[in-house]
Amino acid sequence: MVQSQWPYWLPLRSDLRNISPYGAPQIEGVIALNTNENPFPLPGEVAEAMSIRLNAVIGNLNRYPDRDAHGLRQKLAHYITQSTGVEVSEENVWAANGSNEILQTLFLACGGADHLSLGFIPSYSVHPLIAQITKTPWFAGSRDEDFGIDIAKAKKLIRDKSPHLVFVTTPNNPSGSSTSIADLKELAEATGSVGGLFIVDEAYAEFSEEPSAVTLLADFPHVVVVRTMSKAFAFAGARTGYLIAKPAVVHASLLTRLPYHLSALTQAAAETALEFAPAMQSEIELLITERERVANAITEVGYRVVPSSANFLLFGGFSGESSAIWQAFLERGILIRDIGLRGFLRVTIGTPAENTQFIAVLHKIAE
Ligand SMILES: Cc1ncc(COP(=O)(O)O)c(C=O)c1O
Repeated sequence: MVQSQWPYWLPLRSDLRNISPYGAPQIEGVIALNTNENPFPLPGEVAEAMSIRLNAVIGNLNRYPDRDAHGLRQKLAHYITQSTGVEVSEENVWAANGSNEILQTLFLACGGADHLSLGFIPSYSVHPLIAQITKTPWFAGSRDEDFGIDIAKAKKLIRDKSPHLVFVTTPNNPSGSSTSIADLKELAEATGSVGGLFIVDEAYAEFSEEPSAVTLLADFPHVVVVRTMSKAFAFAGARTGYLIAKPAVVHASLLTRLPYHLSALTQAAAETALEFAPAMQSEIELLITERERVANAITEVGYRVVPSSANFLLFGGFSGESSAIWQAFLERGILIRDIGLRGFLRVTIGTPAENTQFIAVLHKIAE
């Protein structure tokens, strides 16, 4: 909806009148490779255990849920301890309806008109969007041609700007490229030296070989790692995201979360998923193998593909406009993502059959 269409009686904030709601197209009857979802449904044994658990919860829906999601946070802490080797407890974890809500909770707690936020673009566009919604100024630092972060430049930028919030997404969306733990450490140091919070968005961490920024927590109290169950856990529809940080960050999040924000159904479903973590994540290896197959196919037709450690690929080098290439894919039944980055498109890794179809269409388009 554009500004002229807002009704005169709606006291909408003036700074929101010209923005569009976030959203990727949701189109029926096509192969959707546009939102970095995991293409595999829940394993049967997990679905069964979950429905038994949810049935029990349904009998209690007259009651508010556990406001502080203790059981879920314990299970998330256990998962992080096991998968990263860093001992964390419930006190280090906060959970919400997707990591987007976690990001919003952090912005509400530590952002605001007199608190600068800073990120390195192109990256996850929801970071600056939530900055805007929460009236937090945003400074867009840049990435280099290969979508990496020039650490010397970034450290200087952080020291010059003194941001309260610094965001690094790794593996990065939309490029798929990773920032090494050594580089994250340098950026964390720089952010600490100006009194900022260093937020590492690790939505795709399970697809990457790099150690998690959770390993920095012992030395840097101002590091916050944001994670989601939407990708590696194939759990996007259940909306569960979380952060791992020092307890003070969790306490600050309690100030800005809505009361009873996480439904009893979500908590029970997520707890069950975590009890079955290996089964829920059993397709990660296959997705990584498929990622390399699709990347090779893209290179073979003469396009450029950015090396990825996530479940998607950014590719470019088209002779025409990327919007026309996007349309050509759609007309052939494949929905990929035009993230508004000139000369590039992003494709999510699907099932082997979906990827084969993508590759077949790719060949036709690149002819
Ligand atoms: C980098 C990044 N962070 C966070 C999210 C949000 O994930 P969710 O809200 O589903 O947990 C996404 C989703 O695509 C993402 O790409």
